[in-house]
Amino acid sequence: MEQITSDKDDYVCTIIVIADSYPFTKSIQYKYKFIIMKKENFLIIGGTGKTGRKVVESLELLNQNVRVGSRSSQPAFDWNNEDTWEDVLEGMDKMYITYQPDLAVPGAKQSIENLIALAEKKNLKKVVLLSGKGEREAELCEQVVIHSGLEYTIVRASWFSQNFSESFFLEPIQQGFVALPQAEVQVPYVDTGDIADVVVEALLHEQHNGNIYQLTGPTTLSFKEAIAEIAEVTERDINFVPITIEEYVAAMKEQGVPADFVWLIEYLFTEVLGNPMVSEISNDIEKVLKRKPKSFVEYVHETKKTGIWESTTQNA
Ligand SMILES: NC(=O)c1ccc[n+]([C@@H]2O[C@H](COP(=O)([O-])OP(=O)(O)OC[C@H]3O[C@@H](n4cnc5c(N)ncnc54)[C@H](OP(=O)(O)O)[C@@H]3O)[C@@H](O)[C@H]2O)c1
Repeated sequence: MEQITSDKDDYVCTIIVIADSYPFTKSIQYKYKFIIMKKENFLIIGGTGKTGRKVVESLELLNQNVRVGSRSSQPAFDWNNEDTWEDVLEGMDKMYITYQPDLAVPGAKQSIENLIALAEKKNLKKVVLLSGKGEREAELCEQVVIHSGLEYTIVRASWFSQNFSESFFLEPIQQGFVALPQAEVQVPYVDTGDIADVVVEALLHEQHNGNIYQLTGPTTLSFKEAIAEIAEVTERDINFVPITIEEYVAAMKEQGVPADFVWLIEYLFTEVLGNPMVSEISNDIEKVLKRKPKSFVEYVHETKKTGIWESTTQNA
């Protein structure tokens, strides 16, 4: 895919060239897509994270002005230090909010209220909020955005597939031993690339204003089935042991995991996975993107190629 961009005043014209090669005739067919859009300033909070960095990449490909809001960006943005917020919001038109560590934690609603009030003061036009499917506390934060004077879209995501390769499930997988509670709960894991594509659509196009999208993958799997899938595709032995929440919490405490993180994990495994809504599949990704969401199996095959699941510990 190649891209040519021309800037004219406040508008940007992007020509995307896609080359398709035909396996039998070996001929190449070129397809051109012309996109003319207004050039705007986007603030992506959590712009180096699992969904944020993909949103940044896509907006930059479209030659939009993008600012990352995170502790390591310049200027820095820290959820725990409101003094850092004003500079980061300066001159921005639209923002994508991914809260850290989770909208369910105590203090999250207050932070969202304060950030939204500042965004209104700074004349931002639109907010896209990443929320969690089946999280009652997160819905209270959604209400703050919904009742602000700003245009908004809420993306309520299911558990990310990437939790198995970029988060707390990774290390146990690499070690070949995964012990988790709620082993049988069916979860429609969603790919962070699909979430990012929906977020970009919502940021760019007004027809998504005022909508709440539930983003899920096309099928559900239990933890046990997800680990079995990874083991089969990577041809590795990964033992899965179902345990109770109490055992999981005790193990985290024993390993010195910080108390607030233990609280969050316990909440996610009891409140969120205990909510029957968590297993519901939605077709909102297809509705917005006009294509199917990526399945967990596709994610596993793609991720295998990165080598992230190859364990040194297991083979040592
Ligand atoms: N994981 C899931 O399955 C799931 C499902 C539904 C919803 N969500 C929601 O998605 C959001 C992101 O979750 P995630 O765990 O996957 O993280 P993530 O997107 O990978 O987040 C990491 C990002 O946050 C930044 N960050 C970390 N601490 C920060 C702080 N104190 N102030 C400012 N920026 C900070 C990091 O950059 P720096 O290190 O540079 O600060 C990085 O850009 C959460 O609100 C979560 O509730 C997650």
